[in-house]
Amino acid sequence: MALWGARFAKEADKRLNDFNSSIRVDQKMYAQDIKGSIAHVTMLDAQRIIPEGDKDIIIKTLLEIKADIESGALVIDPEAEDIHMFIEGELTKRCGDAGKRLHTARSRNDQVAVDFRMYSMDQCQNIIELLKEWIEVLCAKAEENTETIMPGYTHLQRAQPITFAHHLMAYVEMFLRDISRLEDAKKRCNICPLGSGALATTTYPIDREMSAQLLGFDGVSLNSLDGVSDRDFAIEMASALSTVMMHLSRFSEEVILWSSWEFKFIELDDAFATGSSIMPQKKNPDITELVRGKTGRVYGDLQALLTMMKGLPLAYNKDMQEDKELLFDCFETVEVCLTTVIPMVETCRVIKENMRNAAARGFINATDCADYLTKKGMPFRDAYKTIGQLVHYSIEQGKVLETLTMEEYKQASDLFDEDIYEAISLETCVKNRKAIGGPSPEIVKKHIELTKCKLGEMK
Ligand code: ARG
Repeated sequence: MALWGARFAKEADKRLNDFNSSIRVDQKMYAQDIKGSIAHVTMLDAQRIIPEGDKDIIIKTLLEIKADIESGALVIDPEAEDIHMFIEGELTKRCGDAGKRLHTARSRNDQVAVDFRMYSMDQCQNIIELLKEWIEVLCAKAEENTETIMPGYTHLQRAQPITFAHHLMAYVEMFLRDISRLEDAKKRCNICPLGSGALATTTYPIDREMSAQLLGFDGVSLNSLDGVSDRDFAIEMASALSTVMMHLSRFSEEVILWSSWEFKFIELDDAFATGSSIMPQKKNPDITELVRGKTGRVYGDLQALLTMMKGLPLAYNKDMQEDKELLFDCFETVEVCLTTVIPMVETCRVIKENMRNAAARGFINATDCADYLTKKGMPFRDAYKTIGQLVHYSIEQGKVLETLTMEEYKQASDLFDEDIYEAISLETCVKNRKAIGGPSPEIVKKHIELTKCKLGEMK
């Protein structure tokens, strides 16, 4: 019979039990549940709310239960209503009346809220650590490629020359922002709802600050209705994790392009690519396609959380039991994506010649050619027009700007001189873009150093 069965004249129907049970999902929080109970019972004892001696029995038994779960000696019952009921039931089985006193001045509503917050903060930290590792790998690849010229794109059309390092460091900035968003979400999650009770606290003389302190929270929630029914932290984390996935998905899309025959900018290591069951020549970037695909699933979790919350009156409603499955899925998906993408990028081969060849065609130095004339006195708009016509002429002649003769240049404008060839060389174009944030090797090296310092400070 359920712990709450006393009020009922009939046994619960199996279909209700199966539908109602959340243990399949919330058993992941067993350690947080035990930690929360230990803090609660320590506070009950300090406030003399339970008889002397009970605290020690309860804590000892809870720790035994934890050890037994971890060793496999105690199997979590899949038929139990949730992990909280399971552990309390087991405690009572093992130590009788003392166990029955644990739930004094507490409700599952504040218990669930505190467990979920602690679990989510741990998971958040786990993702932050993975993101740091990921950023380190991106920086290492960038370091090897500060002089690797590639085309920079807009509209996926070759636009201006950049370096592979410059391109990678753009992603570093995105993932650094992701870390700061997760840190921020953690801050607001770090508020203890324990003591909110079912919705209206309790008449026992509890010490909420003591419980919060024992659990390492930054503070206590100041309204009990909000304490048990706030899930903003879950939504914020799911949102920050959706943004992580959006960034990983954009990166994945580029890896898919870069490893195609059309680009061939990189080659994935054989250990991180897949084959086809019918086409013997195939080498597919499945990892990145899965990342792109799984991004939709994390967005879905966020959407489900937002929708689940939007019509709920205060305070706790059972709808909220859905929250854990959704947020856990976000954590697990981001974790598996990062742990696979990190070694995939670490081991991939950068084909510098192909990047350079792609940059050498497609007139990506046309802006620099116009800037050359501007620096010699021609107004930029006129220079822009002159070079536009020169590009048109080159295409007709099957040439590029580098292969036009001096005569052809002179025909376009007599401001052109022999130094034009040097001015439009890809190396010059990249080297001279040395404003903060630019692709010049000197600037990107500084950016990498700065990033490493930031990572060092985070440790
Ligand atoms: N398993 C439930 C959850 O995760 C426990 C809360 C049940 N509370 C209640 N008042 N029935 O939300």
